[in-house]
Amino acid sequence: MNLPSMKDAKVRTDKKSRVELFEIDKKYQNVGNGKKYYIKTYGCQMNVHDSENIKALLEQMSFKETDNMEDADLILLNTCAIRENAHNKVFGFLGRVKHLKEQKPDIISGICGCMAQEESVVNEIKDKYKWVDIVFGTHNIYNLPKILNDSIIKNDQEIEVFSTEGDIIENIPVKRDSSIKAWINIMYGCDKFCTYCIVPYTRGKQRSREPKYIIDEVNDLVKKGYQEVTLLGQNVNAYGKDLDINYTMSDLLRDVALTNIPRVRFVTSHPWDFNDSMIKVISEYDNIMPYIHLPLQSGSDRILKLMGRRYNKKDYLELFDKLKKSIPNVSITTDIIVGFPGETEEDFKETLDVVNTCKYDSAYTFIFSPRIGTPAEKMKDDVTLEEKNKRLHILNEIVNKYALEANKKYLGKVVPVLIEGNSEKGDMLMGYTDTMKLVNVIGDKKYIGHIVDVEIIDVKTWSMDGKIKN
Ligand code: SAH
Ligand code: SF4
Ligand code: F3S
Repeated sequence: MNLPSMKDAKVRTDKKSRVELFEIDKKYQNVGNGKKYYIKTYGCQMNVHDSENIKALLEQMSFKETDNMEDADLILLNTCAIRENAHNKVFGFLGRVKHLKEQKPDIISGICGCMAQEESVVNEIKDKYKWVDIVFGTHNIYNLPKILNDSIIKNDQEIEVFSTEGDIIENIPVKRDSSIKAWINIMYGCDKFCTYCIVPYTRGKQRSREPKYIIDEVNDLVKKGYQEVTLLGQNVNAYGKDLDINYTMSDLLRDVALTNIPRVRFVTSHPWDFNDSMIKVISEYDNIMPYIHLPLQSGSDRILKLMGRRYNKKDYLELFDKLKKSIPNVSITTDIIVGFPGETEEDFKETLDVVNTCKYDSAYTFIFSPRIGTPAEKMKDDVTLEEKNKRLHILNEIVNKYALEANKKYLGKVVPVLIEGNSEKGDMLMGYTDTMKLVNVIGDKKYIGHIVDVEIIDVKTWSMDGKIKN
């Protein structure tokens, strides 16, 4: 048993990550014969992509996927720890799994992802959820075949969570959800330690993948006909800074663009590491999409300092301005936290001021949620929940107003849309513009998987309607 420790998770050493190539041990290849798995994924794209790896590992063990939890022999929850409500959802869902397990005691149940990295969560599972069979952390995914097999053989709870990151494991198999667009990890972990955030503890030290593995992966996707890749990291602009070679995010963006994959995206960009050479590359290559997610978090210098964000309002606005001027037609979205400990009415107004200046294409807004073990958890917080809810509401009204305004500029225009599949809306198709606007499209199914010209005929706050131009 390996239990997580927040103290160990906080430590950063200069130790360089080594690269190891994954290969499944033959003795695990038949463990899942005749069995089905169901996996439920919470959280960010990184977790979604981890689940794609987990699915492929399970299939190498001969498990088959099912969409129906009632039908499964193995149920896995890939969890997120970013805010309290993410936690609550998982514990709520666990109740359903327990109920199923009472009827079918042979079901194997497991928890992985960011909550599995949290000391308090794993202690609770060990003491109060003894029926959960396996718990494995974000650094232990490649070891799933062994963990699962050990749990079956010993018929006991198996917990393997490392709090110190190990080597970078390449060659982990992947079963992608889409055959049109793909997620690619370019780095793991985060060293920014924003004071409210749990991620540096649950994902460990920043480790960049070596460029050749990333480029090989993109080239392989190009061969398979993929239209889009999204380069993933908590702080992609810092890519490469931990590598021995002199190679940064702008080099990677250029080399990925040169593979000629039709669309390149990247998330998330911390404003701190966004440099001019990146901006230059983005504006030079047509297949790097004009879309940037640039989290603000707060517009108040005082709060930004307490958050440990390393920029102030002026720096942020200068960068924003430069992006708008240098990248034609760029759309910019953001993340904002309201109700950070001690946030005054004045601080909140500073945030609204930035929103009114930037007029974001869209924004994800959150109420501050204290995460156990982070510095902000211990900061004095005298703002009532009622007040925080009020601020969130005011902020959302303004965000929505600008989102609609931004969309209105598209009315009557013809824009490129990558058609991804059927829309939830009637018999329409759906896809995204180069600027990451969701469009419901009238057109023939034969266009699925293609980038087509779409005329925008109606706009709403969160989506647009369009028809394919022939
Ligand atoms: N690495 C990204 C953010 C990843 S988390 C970045 O730095 O931009 C996604 C968003 O969740 C954050 O941008 C932040 O707005 C929000 N978030 C993170 N921790 C939070 C917390 N404790 N309470 C509320 N929102 C939080
Ligand atoms: Fe969290 Fe900050 Fe790292 Fe983003 S940059 S993952 S908010 S610590
Ligand atoms: Fe959640 Fe972990 Fe992503 S905490 S947001 S799943 S990195």
